[in-house]
Amino acid sequence: MSTNNNKLTTNWGAPVGDNQNSMTAGSRGPTLIQDVHLLEKLAHFNRERVPERVVHAKGAGAHGYFEVTNDLSQYTKANFLSEVGKRTPMFIRFSTVAGELGSSDTVRDPRGFAVKFYTEEGNYDIVGNNTPVFFIRDAIKFPDFIHTQKRHPQTHLKNPNAVWDFWSLSPESLHQVTILMSDRGIPASLRTMNGYGSHTFKWVNEKGEGVWVKYHFKTEQGVQNLDANVAAQLAGENPDYHTEELFHAIENGNFPSWKLSVQIMPLEDANTYKWDPFDVTKVWSQKDYPLIELGRMVLDRNPENYFAEVEQATFSPGTFVPGIEASPDKMLQGRLFAYNDAHRYRVGANHQALPINRPVNEVNNNQRDGQMRFDKNGGSSSIYYEPNSLGGATESPADNVTPFEVSGEAGTHAYSHDDHYTQAGDLYRLMSKEERARLVATIAGAMAPVESDEIKLRQISHFYKADPEYGEGIAKALNLQVPVQS
Ligand code: HEM
Repeated sequence: MSTNNNKLTTNWGAPVGDNQNSMTAGSRGPTLIQDVHLLEKLAHFNRERVPERVVHAKGAGAHGYFEVTNDLSQYTKANFLSEVGKRTPMFIRFSTVAGELGSSDTVRDPRGFAVKFYTEEGNYDIVGNNTPVFFIRDAIKFPDFIHTQKRHPQTHLKNPNAVWDFWSLSPESLHQVTILMSDRGIPASLRTMNGYGSHTFKWVNEKGEGVWVKYHFKTEQGVQNLDANVAAQLAGENPDYHTEELFHAIENGNFPSWKLSVQIMPLEDANTYKWDPFDVTKVWSQKDYPLIELGRMVLDRNPENYFAEVEQATFSPGTFVPGIEASPDKMLQGRLFAYNDAHRYRVGANHQALPINRPVNEVNNNQRDGQMRFDKNGGSSSIYYEPNSLGGATESPADNVTPFEVSGEAGTHAYSHDDHYTQAGDLYRLMSKEERARLVATIAGAMAPVESDEIKLRQISHFYKADPEYGEGIAKALNLQVPVQS
């Protein structure tokens, strides 16, 4: 039974007599604890926030669809990629990394590019960035890295000493630092940047044969970036510039789109390729592994409610569907744990059941209870365990992860590849003279506040090893000499 008389109610559904004046003893008060509507309203208000994401806190989201434009089903049995023309609903959340929920959109920072595909075989998430590489390549370094990007424990200020100290002691960051400090470090809009899965993933076909893949989303709006001075001005005048721009574009029917392509590597090449394909600080040359078109993503609907859809959205790089699996990338392996753990803490044990997160197909298992169990929790069924002589859902061996060989000694192994300079240098040499000049000026500007010359010199020697001109340019801009190279 429902009564639709548009009466204001409490959360328990009782009509509210007065929503303007609290109940007081006489006209001057004091206020009475008997006003349970007031108590409920204030108490609920106190709980309006969930913890913000520890990274990628500031974000904007949109709904859309993904359509297959090229049949790659010989490489993957993923059902949503099975035929040309197949459409899958999806949701995307763009974000900055280091800032808090209210921070400015137009800062120099990588942008998160998290895509949730609601496939018929469960959700599939690609939780990438607008950069094809990352700063570090082992999950064990992530909390330390993020500490350097966040605020100093005493001053609560951003700390360039920590940023450059960490980077200069972690030369694997050089490639990503070069991208971040380049023109691509501040996109003009969320619509005018590319997205990347960044890690290597495994695709598996119906026959159980695998390949390694990397994802590339190329913006169909064209890559456009913001001049650093304009970005700084916008950060002050309209900290929500990108969020607003995306919302209005979609509201006006100007739907942004991206072409999704993949690079495909035969499994055995991983043993011989010149770069370790599981090192997320390196790219695969597109000459060696060209881009192959897969499909197109279109964003055509804004969220109706920011909190319900964007804040409560939970993405994890471990949310796979049959035909798509993890690779041994040590960053990815750590992320397989980190995200769902964050979701249980930030949103709750039953976060997957929220409308924005739940799959379009039926969820059928014996997981029960937990805080905020807001579905029927399996109802009165006696099938709440498995195996079960009464029947119920059973496992499907064909959907099992494909077996893979592991070998070697268990231990804390360093990567065998330590060339962090070639790819960063190649990127520098690809830039025009003007782009290089802006890159050098941006880096010198960012390093200028660093108090220690030792840190500056250590970092300059990395730039120098990538390309002597690169290192010399920055040294000169900082009034320093490139240290003697060993
Ligand atoms: C968000 C951890 C590396 C992209 C997050 C969150 C955590 C986290 C805890 C917040 C999740 C939430 O509260 O919902 C880590 C760890 C990493 C790592 C431990 C390394 C071991 C990366 C890399 C990328 C990335 C390499 C991209 C290639 C993102 C994105 C989000 C995010 C896009 C925001 C997702 C959203 O919009 O909800 N990360 N991260 N992270 N991370 Fe990472």
